Amino acid sequence: MLDAMLNKADPKQVPLHILSSAMFEGWLESVPEWLGTLVRAAGFSAKAGEFLLIPRSGKTPLALLGAGKAQNAYALGDASTRLPEGDYHLTFAPAALDRQDLALAWLMGAYFFERYSPRKRPPARIYIHAANASAARQTAEAIYLARDLINTPAADLNTKALEQAVRDLGAEFGARVNAIVGDDLLKKNFPMVHAVGRASVHKPRLVELHWGKKDAPKIGLVGKGVVFDTGGLDIKAAQYMRLMKKDMGGAANAMALAHMIMAEKLPVQLHMVLPIVDNAISGDAYRPSDILQSRKGLTVEIDNTDAEGRLVLADALARASEEKPELLIDFATLTGAARVALGAEIAPFYSDDEAIVADLQMAAKKTGDPVWHMPLWDGYDKMLDSPIADICHAAPGSMGGSITAALFLRRFVGDIPWLHFDIFGWVSKARPAHPQGGDAQGPRAVFAMLQDRYAKT
Ligand code: BES
Ligand code: MN
Ligand code: ZN
Repeated sequence: MLDAMLNKADPKQVPLHILSSAMFEGWLESVPEWLGTLVRAAGFSAKAGEFLLIPRSGKTPLALLGAGKAQNAYALGDASTRLPEGDYHLTFAPAALDRQDLALAWLMGAYFFERYSPRKRPPARIYIHAANASAARQTAEAIYLARDLINTPAADLNTKALEQAVRDLGAEFGARVNAIVGDDLLKKNFPMVHAVGRASVHKPRLVELHWGKKDAPKIGLVGKGVVFDTGGLDIKAAQYMRLMKKDMGGAANAMALAHMIMAEKLPVQLHMVLPIVDNAISGDAYRPSDILQSRKGLTVEIDNTDAEGRLVLADALARASEEKPELLIDFATLTGAARVALGAEIAPFYSDDEAIVADLQMAAKKTGDPVWHMPLWDGYDKMLDSPIADICHAAPGSMGGSITAALFLRRFVGDIPWLHFDIFGWVSKARPAHPQGGDAQGPRAVFAMLQDRYAKT
């Protein structure tokens, strides 16, 4: 619902005042007596989410929205569905709430996945004078793309359909897209992508997108594209399988970041590599104890076929490393352990590059896209030892599961600054700016970091 953001002021728009608890008493003093009396009598006290519409004779009504103790604009990201349908004009808001963030939060909250059933009501629309509406729309479009892809069930987003989505994205911005499909993965040396995906009638594939000028600094981008994760022969229990249409959330988040980079024409050379597979079960499924060859040359002993993400990512990270990017970024819905550690709202990230860590943490604060630094703890690396192969792909037991998964990936990354996200990509219960369903986690923070580094000023 990108048109939830209006481009122009209009006298027919309802003036909207956003009031925080701290400023409320002062505001009451400053307004005409009748208004103060009415607002008090209505019981409005500027608590978060409170809404009051005040009729005024011969004029549009006046709308009040409570911000409570909101520290940032994203806390108001449900306003477009909380306010009655109609057009508003932001006339007043606490200075602490950044106007550009308010605009983006409004659009993020206005999202609804309409592919299978229409939304119950249109979002309220707003004009915000001090915000750049097209910039907000550009970011929202990338986030909507990730959400749409994650929300689409695997019956309609099989491996081929996800490849097509990458092709569509490439076509929109003049990028070059190529795909290696099915048994060609063996010829082109992506043995682990093939092994994980070969059991499905929906062929595995490695999809690459190239964009940007040849002389610009190279950025590698990788995303886990498991269109559905049954767990393979180590089949998941029903309650854990239920959400596994979202297991391509890493690819969706990588695509959202690519969208932001290309729409903004950031002066970088983008190389996106997406391993896309369906982790299914059939007579030819890969098995626990199998030993796989990998693109990097390491032999990998399979512990549990449900740890499929790190296998397909390993070949993709090896491929991306071959191009020697100056920064390599990956997104993956990689482990349940990451959720146990941080819950669903915070995106855990791994990097040993101190500048990346500091820059990303700052960018995350600025953009309200929360991330948390996790350790690539060398001491746990030996948990991946295999008695008969170069490496085992999962550590015994579940201790530090997100860390050991990241350490496995590290073995396949060249000597390149690397940033890895182990995200959830899903909102179980709606909260402001985050409707229930698929979600982007990290791309806005990463993009802000890349803008600081690369944007021409
Ligand atoms: N896609 C899952 C991880 C996941 C589960 C992410 C739930 C978000 C929510 C991944 O492929 C997986 O199954 N990982 C296993 C690894 C284990 C077998 C070593 C896990 O985390 O249990
Ligand atoms: Mn799995
Ligand atoms: Zn998975």
